[in-house]
Amino acid sequence: MNYENIVILTGAGISAESGLKTFRDNDGLWENHRVEDVATPEAFIRNPRLVYTFYNQRRAQLQMSDVKPNLAHLALAKLEAEHAGNVTIVTQNVDNLHEQAGSKQVLHMHGELLSARCTRSGKSEVWTNEIDNTTRCSCCNSPSSLRPDIVWFGEMPLYLDEISEAIANADLFISIGTSGTVYPAAGFVSEAKFHNVHTVELNLEPTGTRGQFDEGYYGPASAVVPHYIHDLLKESI
Ligand code: APR
Repeated sequence: MNYENIVILTGAGISAESGLKTFRDNDGLWENHRVEDVATPEAFIRNPRLVYTFYNQRRAQLQMSDVKPNLAHLALAKLEAEHAGNVTIVTQNVDNLHEQAGSKQVLHMHGELLSARCTRSGKSEVWTNEIDNTTRCSCCNSPSSLRPDIVWFGEMPLYLDEISEAIANADLFISIGTSGTVYPAAGFVSEAKFHNVHTVELNLEPTGTRGQFDEGYYGPASAVVPHYIHDLLKESI
């Protein structure tokens, strides 16, 4: 079957084999921290130093030379390059491995590690260094105004209108490496079904939302994704 507009939702599982830990596969801890201690606006008010340090470490880790896109990221970039229609990646990941692999159309609905946001102006800027309470933003040049450009729990995800529009216009929706437990991303599959979009889950194992997908293929992303994309590209020739 040929598909024209493809929307791909990715989660932490696609980056696991690049050396970045997932959120829910480690006793509920993210790099040894409880999510509510580092990834909420309340945590930032309570203990900004801990939150700055946590994201400074994540940002530094992402820029280490051994953290590279794996075969799954590369397969999605190849799909975008070779597919005649549109390919939109909607990622919950804050890493930049899709971009490093060569993907162009990527919506970071939960923000980005290599970006910082001014809490006064709301403007984001590319950021590769550490942030602390003395760092100045380039928009108003005031100290203590920058925060990690991450959508924390309790905050509104980004690009929701664009994502809904892309899903409504899609004919194929693929979900890769996400547990389907965090909304609104967990609801995209039912949004896709509502618009009669064909839905496919690619994950290490079937998730709790497996029943909502038309098809599912299971195993490590670096094996399952290239295989699925290869077949998809072959079918569309
Ligand atoms: N290949 C494919 N899938 C994998 C792999 C792998 N190598 N390793 C793990 N997985 C799967 C797991 O089985 C799990 O279903 O990836 C999924 C990861 O799920 P989560 O850790 O819950 O990550 P994610 O779904 O991206 O979390 C959503 O929650 O904490 C917040 O904002 C954070 O964006 C994140 C959101």
